[in-house]
Amino acid sequence: MRKGIILAGGKGKRLHPITKVISKQLIPVYDKPLIFYPLSVLIKIGITDILIICVPTDLKIFKKLIHDLRLKNIKISFKSQKKPNGLPEAFKIGKKFIGKSDVALILGDNIFYNKDLNSIINKYIYEKNTASIFIKKVKKPNEFGVITKTSRGINIEEKPKKPKSNNVITGIYFFPNDVCKKVVKLKFSSRGETEITDLIKIYINENRINLVNLKNTIWLDTGNPDNLLKASNIIYKLKKNKKISVGNLD
Ligand code: DAU
Repeated sequence: MRKGIILAGGKGKRLHPITKVISKQLIPVYDKPLIFYPLSVLIKIGITDILIICVPTDLKIFKKLIHDLRLKNIKISFKSQKKPNGLPEAFKIGKKFIGKSDVALILGDNIFYNKDLNSIINKYIYEKNTASIFIKKVKKPNEFGVITKTSRGINIEEKPKKPKSNNVITGIYFFPNDVCKKVVKLKFSSRGETEITDLIKIYINENRINLVNLKNTIWLDTGNPDNLLKASNIIYKLKKNKKISVGNLD
């Protein structure tokens, strides 16, 4: 069984006051709670064993919401993260769940849509012992992990003030099983958390990385109010104008 983790905790500070009382991943994007979108991506790409990590206070709500879906042939487990110590902590919390498998991580506030997403992603993730990250060109790269290819190799920086390129890493990652050992080595950054970019750096240095350009894929990071509204509008328009239902779990 292929395994995947949805990281749906965090403080959601940029969405206060909404997220003072409820997790960001439970608030609606057009007609569905946000978490349905990353969940539908994992299912679409053939992952059938999924761990959802959320804040302890919303664990019950997440469980109810997901159990009520009665998804067939999909196993979903839940764990909580006490403090938002950084994205790589998913692999510490999920160590037992991961067991001997390779693992996908998707951020609970990321939305992806491409009708061929399954084939695009699956082309890469079976390369043994290699991590795969998915990149997109954006206008404001300083809000993301920025990736630059130079003659000396690949350079990656988390939210740099002066980005060296417009290519950023999206919130879906695939790691070989040794990710559980690598996370233990990570140090806290000046932001007070461990960084996914530092984890990826280890795989870059070991020359075990695939960079995949998600060119024709819609990618929406819903971390702030403007992007959240934008995402709802895009998903609404896709449904009304093109009869495409993003995030469908039927
Ligand atoms: O969206 C892609 C970007 O995601 C990448 O380009 C960046 O390299 C990566 O650091 C991340 O940046 P964000 O600023 O968007 O991360 P954020 O802190 O918003 O967390 C992303 C999701 O993960 C969000 O749903 C909250 C959740 N989270 C976050 C942290 C730090 C947790 O569940 N636990 C945590 O400890």
